[in-house]
Amino acid sequence: MSLRIDILTLFPDMFGPFIGTSIPKRAADKGLVEYQFTNIRDFATDAHKSVDDKPFGGGHGMVMMCQTMFDAVESAEKQDDRPATRVVLTPQGKRLDQAMVEDLAKKPRILMIAGRYEGFDERIIEGLRPMEISIGDYVLSGGELAAMVLIDAIVRLIPGVLGAEQGSIDESFADGLLEHPQYTRPRTYREMSVPEVLLSGDHKAIAAWRLEQRKQRTQERRPDLWQAYLQNDDGRTG
Ligand code: 6GU
Repeated sequence: MSLRIDILTLFPDMFGPFIGTSIPKRAADKGLVEYQFTNIRDFATDAHKSVDDKPFGGGHGMVMMCQTMFDAVESAEKQDDRPATRVVLTPQGKRLDQAMVEDLAKKPRILMIAGRYEGFDERIIEGLRPMEISIGDYVLSGGELAAMVLIDAIVRLIPGVLGAEQGSIDESFADGLLEHPQYTRPRTYREMSVPEVLLSGDHKAIAAWRLEQRKQRTQERRPDLWQAYLQNDDGRTG
């Protein structure tokens, strides 16, 4: 069964080149995923096609209104019998990580809501009970890029989308360490040489060197991941 991804947005055109290129396209071409767009503005009922309004209590910016959003969600959801996991992309959400991506990749249907403007009327969250997901601690102008990040991360985990070689790479990040450095031809470039051990043909020595590099990098660059790695290191041998 393929994964259906519904995308509710005011800017469906932003997604065209993304879903039409590389891995997200390959997944759709293979029938492993389908992308279905709903333009929230199509559900506006006034002459100005409003989807947002000024915040009660005052303040900057505009707030996405309830009616257009509820109608858009209901319209999308009734297009298919599969129950949708609802996701709102918002900087107020839980920060995305690989464990959340792996969980979402197992669902039959994900409905993503990308908001623009300053935010959503809170009753959208209260009434639709979506997962709220952020992609990091910085502010984007809207949820569309975040939705594309999430789609990309999910789609590449669907069995059959990538070649067989990919699995081990994901597992190595899932073990909580950053990747080791990689090199390809030539052996020397602008007087910078590839580490000797990688040319030795000694697979045990290469594996040991790579693990050491991964630990060093993680310790230096990501003390948060390093602490978690040490915490979980009960009886690990590799
Ligand atoms: Cl999901 N949306 C917006 N607007 N900004 C963000 C974000 C999402 N994640 C990080 N920054």
